[in-house]
Amino acid sequence: MDFFVIDGGRPLRGAVRISGSKNAALPNLISTLMTDDACTIHHVPELRDIRTTVRLLETMGKKVSYARGTAVVEHGSRLKTRAPYDLVKQMRASVLVAGPVLARFGKARVSLPGGCTIGMRPIDIHLEAFKKLGARVSTEHGDVVLDCERLEPGTVRFRFPSVGATENLMMAAAGVKGTTVLKNAAREPEIEDLGTFLTRMGARVDGAGTDTVTIEGTSRLHGAEHSVIADRVETGTFLLAALATKGDVRLIGAKAQHLTALLEAVKRSGATVTELPEGLRVKAKDRPKPVDIHTEPHPGFPTDLQAPWMAYMTLARGKSKVRESVFENRVMHAAELGRMGARIRTGGERAVVEGVPELFGAPIMASDIRAGAALVVAALAAKGQTVIQRVYHIDRGYEKLEKKLRALGAQIRRAH
Ligand code: UD1
Repeated sequence: MDFFVIDGGRPLRGAVRISGSKNAALPNLISTLMTDDACTIHHVPELRDIRTTVRLLETMGKKVSYARGTAVVEHGSRLKTRAPYDLVKQMRASVLVAGPVLARFGKARVSLPGGCTIGMRPIDIHLEAFKKLGARVSTEHGDVVLDCERLEPGTVRFRFPSVGATENLMMAAAGVKGTTVLKNAAREPEIEDLGTFLTRMGARVDGAGTDTVTIEGTSRLHGAEHSVIADRVETGTFLLAALATKGDVRLIGAKAQHLTALLEAVKRSGATVTELPEGLRVKAKDRPKPVDIHTEPHPGFPTDLQAPWMAYMTLARGKSKVRESVFENRVMHAAELGRMGARIRTGGERAVVEGVPELFGAPIMASDIRAGAALVVAALAAKGQTVIQRVYHIDRGYEKLEKKLRALGAQIRRAH
């Protein structure tokens, strides 16, 4: 299994080009199940989760060519309505095939997801919403089985603004003739991007990115071309790595409007953020001031940047607090950071970080994508050598991470 060897303590400097958003590319790719026409999607990052999605589409009958960031998805053979366990267990987002397939064929069968080890992550919000549009839901041999004569348009109010449920229902509604309204919808930028793609495929989507999304669906969605938005989580991770190392980095293609809560916290920590025509520039000369954060659905502080933020705060001049309110069990990186000299107390969803002047290299282990990213941030800032095991978690979400970091002056190599 691959691991990273990082010799830390070097400020990151220079420019890095932000990749396409993994979390936007996944539902966009999955939407192609709703048409037999060819769809072309650009700015798709080269990542393990994307390869899993391509395999999922192929298993279901699509023909996919994917090279140099462009995926062309075409009709292959008769589509299957089942997402098999061996793929769903690798990537929870596979559950997103349910919406498109149910709308198109009146049935869908998806293994109950595994995915990350963060919290329970059930799919009850998705299922309740499908029921509201007329689907029957049952479970059989570890699969969720959905079926209906015909999915009906309607109004759904989510009990929580789940990103996946909003996407799943937007796709389903796009394939159903009539108007569906989603209330208390997630407002993440990736939802807006999906709205743009579905509109290009022939549906009419209004309000994507607000808490009420209205979808005028059609049974005749067609092929479309689209370019995925920049990855705000990758942006935030490089940004925090730059600041933790007291560096100066330009993030090319980054969008400040997708990261308002993070940028607000960064400014309060004393670092400099400048918007440029081509992206963002961040700079830090000193240890950060302590800043408390708590994660919330967008536009709140993103849960996917909580771990890298904690890594940054381990070096603050004082005590800061972190509260994780989106996922259970998402402070596992605290113990690993502790192995590097960080002083963090955790209890349930909360952590108190007592800043230290320096971290030290140590052997550590990634437990999920974003916890892994936090360890990379800490290792880049730490004195001495860090070895990070279980890099496969990080590979799910960060394109060419070591190459991009090396271009910024980091000493990082992959070994196995
Ligand atoms: C997506 C992102 C993930 C991000 C998360 C929150 C993708 C592929 N992944 O995940 O990176 O961390 O949004 O911003 O886009 N929940 C339920 N029942 C449900 C669905 C969710 O209880 O039916 C709970 C989850 O357990 C979790 C919370 O709601 O505690 C947020 O989940 P959700 O917004 O659905 O996140 P994902 O779509 O899984």
